[in-house]
Amino acid sequence: MKVIELNNICKAFGDNKANHNVCFNLKKGEIHALLGENGAGKSTLMNILYGLYSCDSGDIVINGDTVEVENPSKAIEHGVGMVHQHFMLVPQLSVTQNIFLGMKETGLFLKMDELKKKVAELNESFGFNVDPSAVIWQLPVGVQQKVEILKALMRDAKILILDEPTAVLTPHEVKELFGSIKKLTKSGYSIILITHKMEEVLDYCDRVTIMREGQVVDTLLVSEADHDILAKAMVGRDVCLDRIIEPQESGEVLLKLEGVTVLNDKKLPAVKNLSLEVARGEILGIAGVDGNGQLELGEAIVGLRKIEEGTMNLIGQNTTHAKPRTMMDLGMAHIPDDRHKKGLVLDFSIKENLILGSQRDEIYHNGLLMNYAKVKEEAERMVEEFDVRPRNIELTGAMLSGGNQQKVILAREVSRNPEVLIALQPTRGLDIGAIEFVRGKIIEERKNNKAVLLVSTDLDEILTLSDRIAIMYKGEIIGIVPPETPVEEIGLLMGGIKNKKPKGGEPDESQV
Ligand SMILES: Nc1ncnc2c1ncn2[C@@H]1O[C@H](COP(=O)(O)OP(=O)(O)OP(=O)(O)O)[C@@H](O)[C@H]1O
Ligand SMILES: [Mg+2]
Repeated sequence: MKVIELNNICKAFGDNKANHNVCFNLKKGEIHALLGENGAGKSTLMNILYGLYSCDSGDIVINGDTVEVENPSKAIEHGVGMVHQHFMLVPQLSVTQNIFLGMKETGLFLKMDELKKKVAELNESFGFNVDPSAVIWQLPVGVQQKVEILKALMRDAKILILDEPTAVLTPHEVKELFGSIKKLTKSGYSIILITHKMEEVLDYCDRVTIMREGQVVDTLLVSEADHDILAKAMVGRDVCLDRIIEPQESGEVLLKLEGVTVLNDKKLPAVKNLSLEVARGEILGIAGVDGNGQLELGEAIVGLRKIEEGTMNLIGQNTTHAKPRTMMDLGMAHIPDDRHKKGLVLDFSIKENLILGSQRDEIYHNGLLMNYAKVKEEAERMVEEFDVRPRNIELTGAMLSGGNQQKVILAREVSRNPEVLIALQPTRGLDIGAIEFVRGKIIEERKNNKAVLLVSTDLDEILTLSDRIAIMYKGEIIGIVPPETPVEEIGLLMGGIKNKKPKGGEPDESQV
C-alpha cells in the first residue's frame, strides 16, 4: 500500500526549477531513501509534502486521498512529521519545553509530567539518552538532532521525513538510530530518508530515488543497487574519495598550543592541558567521538572561546587571548562546524557573505566608497571556482541548499589565502561530488605549504586527509598516530582505550 504519492510536482524559485515533474511514492513500512547532489531539490520536495512550500503544480496523495497541504499543521493532521536538515529548536528552552511547543500545534492538551514521562519512554526505547530538562543551546548538535527526532515522534507522526538526520551523529549513534527506525517500520511507520551517505542507503533502506537538477533520475530497489550505480546516478560521473595525498616534508610550526585548558558552556573543562603543533605543509587531523572537546578546542583556536590556562602561538605571535579578527589578520582562516550559526549571515546575499570579514580590505574600496563592481567581480569568480549553485550572487544565504551554503563559506575562507586553515567538520552534509571538491581544496592548501588543522568526527575523512592523526578523548589527546594505523586501533583510542597490545598480546582495557 502506498501511503504517499507525489505526482508531477513542479516548484520554481524565479527561473530556478527546484522540482520539475517529480514523481515519488512511499510504501507502508518501508524506508525510502532520497538521494541527490547538493541543490538537487530533495529538501524542496519534502518541504512541499510537509506544507512549508506550496507547489506550482502537481498532486499530493496521502493514504489514497488527494490533499492540500497548506501548512505543517495540515501535514501533521495527515500523520506526516518532518525532522529538518537544520534544527528548528528554540535554543533558550529545555528539551521538554521544545517538544511541548510541537504538541500545542496539534491542539493536544498534555500535562508537563505526562509529557516528561512519554519523552522518557521514547528515550528509553530509542536509546537517545537525552536529558529532558537540558537547555537546548547547551547541548551538542548531535543531541539537538535527537531532540528533533523525539519531537516528531511525540507528534504521533506515522510517516516520518528525516532530512539528513545522521549528518551530525557518531557512527555508533547512527547504528542506534537505524535500529530504532527499523523497529518503527516493523510497527507500521514509513520513513523517507534524505541522506548523502551511500552506506546508509545500502545497509538500511528498501528503495532509493535519485534526484538530479530538480528531476528524478531513477527509483530502484536497494537490492538492485550498489555504490557505483548510485554515485554515478547522483553526480553523473565517477567520484573518487580515496586517499590521494603525496608524501611531503613539513616546514616550520605555524600553530602551537601548550597546556591549553578550555571550558564548555556549562563551565566544566572540555579541553584539558592540551598541547599540539601544526606545521607548514601538513594536515593534522583531530579524530574523536563527538563531544570529547573537539568543538571547544576548535572554537578556542579561532578565538571564539576563552583559553583559561596555557598558551597559543600563531605564526610567531602569542595569540592566547587574541580576538578572532586578530587571528584573521595574522593569517588564519576558519571553516566553522555550524554553517548557520557561525558561518553565514542567512539574510545577506551570497555576494555579501563571500566578502564577509574582508569588506574593509583595500581591494573592495575606491577611497572611502565601497567598490561594488569589484565585490561583484570577486564574488562571481568565487562562485565559479567553488561551483556554488545556482550561480546567482544576489540570492540570500537562506535560499541556498545546505551543501551550497558550505561551499560559500569555503570559498570565502580559502580565498583569503590564509597561512593556517582551521577546518571544523568541513564536509558535513555535502554530496560526494562536493566532498571530493572540498577535500581537494584542503589538499591544495597543504600542497601550497599552508598548515591545516582538520577536526572531523568522520573517521574516513581524517584517514583520507591527515599526515598525522591526534585522537581526542575526554578533552585530552590520548594518542597521535600516522594515517597507516589500523582503523581498529584508532577506534579503540577514540573509545579511550590505550596500549592495545601489551606483553601478553591481550588487549589492555585500561581507560585513560
Ligand atoms: N527559499 C528558496 N528561495 C530560492 N531558492 C531556493 C529556496 N529553497 C531552495 N531553493 C533552491 O532550490 C534548489 C533546490 O534546493 P534544495 O534545498 O531542495 O536542495 P537539496 O537537494 O536539499 O540540497 P542539499 O543536499 O544541499 O541540502 C536549489 O537550487 C536552491 O538554491
Ligand atoms: Mg537539503
